[in-house]
Amino acid sequence: MRDYLVLWVNGVRREVRGGDAFLTLSDWLRGRLGLVGTKIMCAEGDCGACTVLVAEPVERGRPRFLPIDSCIRFLFQVDGCHVVTVDGLANGGSLAPVQQAMIDCHGSQCGFCTPGFVMALAGGRHAEAAGEVVDWRKELAGNLCRCTGYVSIFEAAERAGGEADWLATRFDDSWMREGVRLRRESLDVRGELDGVAMRATCPASLTEALAARRQPEARVVAGATDLGVLWNKGKLRPRHWLDLSRVVELRGVDVEESGAPATLMAGPLATWTDMLRVCTERCGEAVAVLESFGGPQIRHVGTLGGNIVNGSPIADSLPLLYAMEATLELASAAGTRAVPVHVFYKGYKQLDLGPDELLVRVRMPLPGPDDVLRLVKVSRRRDLDISTFTSAILVRRAGDRIATARVAYGGVGPTAVRMRNTEQALAGKPFTEATFRQAGDAAAAEIRPLSDVRGSADYRLQLARSVLLKFFHEQTAAVG
Ligand SMILES: Cc1cc2nc3c(=O)[nH]c(=O)nc-3n(C[C@H](O)[C@H](O)[C@H](O)COP(=O)(O)OP(=O)(O)OC[C@H]3O[C@@H](n4cnc5c(N)ncnc54)[C@H](O)[C@@H]3O)c2cc1C
Ligand code: FES
Ligand code: FES
Repeated sequence: MRDYLVLWVNGVRREVRGGDAFLTLSDWLRGRLGLVGTKIMCAEGDCGACTVLVAEPVERGRPRFLPIDSCIRFLFQVDGCHVVTVDGLANGGSLAPVQQAMIDCHGSQCGFCTPGFVMALAGGRHAEAAGEVVDWRKELAGNLCRCTGYVSIFEAAERAGGEADWLATRFDDSWMREGVRLRRESLDVRGELDGVAMRATCPASLTEALAARRQPEARVVAGATDLGVLWNKGKLRPRHWLDLSRVVELRGVDVEESGAPATLMAGPLATWTDMLRVCTERCGEAVAVLESFGGPQIRHVGTLGGNIVNGSPIADSLPLLYAMEATLELASAAGTRAVPVHVFYKGYKQLDLGPDELLVRVRMPLPGPDDVLRLVKVSRRRDLDISTFTSAILVRRAGDRIATARVAYGGVGPTAVRMRNTEQALAGKPFTEATFRQAGDAAAAEIRPLSDVRGSADYRLQLARSVLLKFFHEQTAAVG
């Protein structure tokens, strides 16, 4: 088992031994390599100033560099990968087209945010060169400017267009062969960080991961978009990490067509970018919520499994999973069991998950042709904000009546809630405004939301009613 890291930074191979493996990527780049172009402002994934591009090696084809927030990524997680920072983007005296475009369009507005914007632009241009259609408003949603605005930066994005992939000309792919081999190897790295003995176990297979899970002190980490924030705030100091990110069996998302309805089968490591790709094809209603999930930097690394196990009552995946009656597969070295998602949560962040278990698969039936699914996410900001209230409503009609209804809300209590009384108020009733108003009364009686910084209890109660009416009016407008 390897006990040191190997990665590439701006084309240069680096080996890392000891305690540095436990630094965040941004701290290591700045503090150890002196690559201070990468800025750290919020240190919690919210502003994008620390954006770098990271590519995992692939056996065939070209590497795909994705923008991520380096302030909430641990160095041991990028072992075997290629990291590109703003310091390495220019080729000798030639600036990258996005850098030149930022100068030409006066897009450089302050020294803190500009490097992050440049890297997000470089990532977007790289995606365009790979054939993706990039909507720059969405692509830059993970980068905050508080001073001036985005007009010049959008102009720079357009100006930097063209066919050529700058990253492909700037860096060759010679690192990939060794990178593929490294990503297949398990890691067990130890070292001291700030005088504390640390360890990271990074298994390469599920069997090894389950064996490692027998050590209850090891803290499981996937994308680190929740845990990285807690680490930076000093709220979490595990001495032993169990990093799942190279366990191939836990990756990927697909649709199982056999059986009706078809079922979405996701590994817990499916990122929000993966989910968006599949849902665009097979669950269009989820797209708007997924597109507002963090920003691209968060979606490229944050995982479905992390969202579920983090157990926040405002986790955006939960109302959908509840309404579709998803099942979670949990495994330990002793065996596997399946748990319906709505019984997985026992209280605020209390889960039916043993200390030796991992979430290993999520099965979610997709809406059938007669089902109407509507998801709502209410947040104070449109982009890059966590929810105040979330809902999923799934209705199957039989003529003028409601045959079945499933309703799930988030942000109204210590866990997401399946709204059974509300469902009863809908099932078998005529599809009329009066029915949905009565269901709204049932919903308001069924929950006791709290007031917090995101919204008052009254506001949440109103939302509990109004999403039902919204559903009714949207449907009648669609039919009418
Ligand atoms: C800027 C920002 C914006 C965000 N926006 C949103 C948003 O719009 N909506 C939203 O819902 N969330 C949001 N989040 C929260 C976070 O991104 C998500 O919850 C994400 O899906 C977590 O996944 P992860 O892989 O990063 O989890 P991690 O941080 O790696 O882990 C989270 C928890 O899950 C556990 N865990 C992970 N995988 C497994 C597994 N397979 N088995 C057992 N335990 C496991 C870990 O031990 C940990 O307790 C945001 C976070 C940030 C920083
Ligand atoms: S410093 Fe703000 S996202 Fe990393
Ligand atoms: S560019 Fe930094 S705050 Fe606007």
